[in-house]
Amino acid sequence: MRIPIIAGNWKMNNTISESLELVEAIKTSKLDEKVEKVVAVPFTSLMEVKKSLEGTDIKLAAQNMHWEEKGAFTGEVSPLMLKEIGVDYCIIGHSERRQYFNETDESVNKKVKSALTHGIKPIICVGETLEEREEGKEEEVVKEQLLKALEGIEKEDIENIVIAYEPVWAIGTGKTASSEDANHMCGFIRRIIGEKYGEDTKDTIRIQYGGSVKPNNIKELMDKVEIDGALVGGASLIAEDFVKLINY
Ligand code: PGA
Repeated sequence: MRIPIIAGNWKMNNTISESLELVEAIKTSKLDEKVEKVVAVPFTSLMEVKKSLEGTDIKLAAQNMHWEEKGAFTGEVSPLMLKEIGVDYCIIGHSERRQYFNETDESVNKKVKSALTHGIKPIICVGETLEEREEGKEEEVVKEQLLKALEGIEKEDIENIVIAYEPVWAIGTGKTASSEDANHMCGFIRRIIGEKYGEDTKDTIRIQYGGSVKPNNIKELMDKVEIDGALVGGASLIAEDFVKLINY
């Protein structure tokens, strides 16, 4: 049985006070206990949100990290810093980081390894652009991103990894992949994991869909056999909507 995982990616939204307001509204709502809940908040809010989440079952995530523990990397945040705060997860390789901040499959791989070494669970994002989909290359692109992200990762580490299939053309655009397409691609990812790590791993790895997930489409997506959760941007900024997603 794979535990469903609904994660909110706040992106570059919410000051510390705004973060506390949002998290307060979420944690005081009635939330499905059978669903794993994660909020990925800006670095500046991590510490205060962590304190606010104490005594709840809501997990905390960062949205990025450097792979080195320390050093001359101006503006970067290290896994040791995140670990001390008590971060559970870290989103790695989000398409916005690949697009705007030069994130590559190589840096994604280094970050994944480093996160695992430091006991932080990576949520690895993969997904094709509109152009790649129109050329029929979505499987090829996703396979390459996935295998490169997982290069050198041992089978026993896979249980600490979540994969998020996020087609770039569906992020923040209001265009959701059809639940069939999303299911197909999550199944494709699962097959690749199975080929690399074996049948048992294939059955246990959790795969999220992300891209314009909203209260009105979550149920249809989550009903699909291959989809174990959602990585949600826009709708995670509105407490009422995020609560609806958790309680899909
Ligand atoms: P969206 O973002 O839900 O606003 O489309 C998803 C994501 O980028 O993780």
